[in-house]
Amino acid sequence: MADTELASALTKRVTSGLAFQKCLNPLCGADFDVGQVKTACDRCGDLLDVEYDWSRVEVPQNLADFERYWSRRFEPLRFSGVWRFHELLPFAPLDKVVTVGEGQTLLQQANWVGKYVGMDEGRLFLQYEGMNPSGSFKDNGMCAAFTHAFMTGAKRAACASTGNTSASLAMYCSVTQLMKAVIFIGSGKISYGKLSQALEYGALTVQIAGDFDDAMIRVREVSKDLGIYLVNSINPFRLEGQKTIMYRVLEALRWQVPDWIVVPGGNLGNSSAFGKAFQELLHLGLIDRVPRLAVINAAGADTLYQLFDRRNLRWNGGQPDRLISCDYYNDLDSRRAKADTIASAIEINRPVNLVKCLRALDVCDGVVRKVTDQEILDAKAQVGAGGIGCEPASAASVAGAKLLRQQGIIAPSDRVVCILTGHQLKDPTATVAYHTTDQDKFNEVLGSRGVTRASFANRAVAVPNELDAIIRAIQLYS
Ligand code: F0G
Repeated sequence: MADTELASALTKRVTSGLAFQKCLNPLCGADFDVGQVKTACDRCGDLLDVEYDWSRVEVPQNLADFERYWSRRFEPLRFSGVWRFHELLPFAPLDKVVTVGEGQTLLQQANWVGKYVGMDEGRLFLQYEGMNPSGSFKDNGMCAAFTHAFMTGAKRAACASTGNTSASLAMYCSVTQLMKAVIFIGSGKISYGKLSQALEYGALTVQIAGDFDDAMIRVREVSKDLGIYLVNSINPFRLEGQKTIMYRVLEALRWQVPDWIVVPGGNLGNSSAFGKAFQELLHLGLIDRVPRLAVINAAGADTLYQLFDRRNLRWNGGQPDRLISCDYYNDLDSRRAKADTIASAIEINRPVNLVKCLRALDVCDGVVRKVTDQEILDAKAQVGAGGIGCEPASAASVAGAKLLRQQGIIAPSDRVVCILTGHQLKDPTATVAYHTTDQDKFNEVLGSRGVTRASFANRAVAVPNELDAIIRAIQLYS
């Protein structure tokens, strides 16, 4: 079918209830039209999912059927690594879909990093989501939420962000000129690489005195009051786009399911989306097993670890014991505890997708671990030494895989995919401080975070501006 025919067929189906929004809480189960703008259930306040009447979707018989789009890469919608899987997220008619060419990302076998993690040769893979147009995995979800915003006639879109969501939103706004971006950031909590993107793309940037958790509360209030479309990952359409990261991992593995997916955990949108992707593929008979999921917190922002691993909070068929999380948050408040990690992207204590992530952990027999800033930066240095590099938060996945190997939970022969969520150039401050010869600089940026050594530092060699000295230095060090 030509795209235009498919678009009008889908428009008809979308408007007739093929896709809808449904409350996550099975005791409520309220559903809402796909054309409504919501970030929570009207009836009980719980999170919403985007769901489909799969019996009415023309889903391919095999995942390999998606390969038919490879030969149509000259069409923007088939070039997009998100929309070429449109049949698995069919909430928008194709003529309303927004793309800037997101999702051209790479799964790379990474033996150098695999050795560091303790894997057998050929068993560790890195999914480089930093290769997206705005430099992070966020573009996968943003193109979906932005499409929904466009479908529903939004003129302004807002988010709170540790930097990457805002860079992505600002980019979609500037490329398409369809909406104005309003972003909320915490003070001093965003790396310059990310802030520079939002500023240059022309977003209205509101820096509030507080951290990400504070900014998140405010942006929800403000977007409700002013009727601004909210694109944080409580927006269920964001997660639909992020499901495609897993489709591309499967595609790169020639449609074989790996043993483990390891992902950093911040607001828990990615982990939630991955669980939903696998649950749906299983339901559709497109895979016969799901991988195990490991979500890795930074030790300074370890709410999921505390709740899941230490306090046994579970999905429990959609009825998690909310007293456990309430008590935990009350305790954080009474201690005035704030998230604190060099991995600023995941410096979050109140993950909005907590309950969805519990479902993903249930579906994928998941585990949760925390890793220190020292472990994160050492893993990051190894990722850079053996590949394209990543920002600190992303390296939590590799540090987490190493920890799970040491604990014997991941076997050396397992096939493991670590998600590298953001580009190496997003946060050069942390990287340069790690590799610096200047001890004061090291202490200033990293010392307060318990990082005592740069185990894999590649220090610049200082030489006088004299030919002989330069030649001697090169001979000595190369
Ligand atoms: N890695 C990077 C590079 C991120 O930017 C984020 C989240 C995460 C991991 C965590 O992902 O929230 O799906 O668990 N960054 C958000 C932001 C919060 O505002 O850019 P998650």
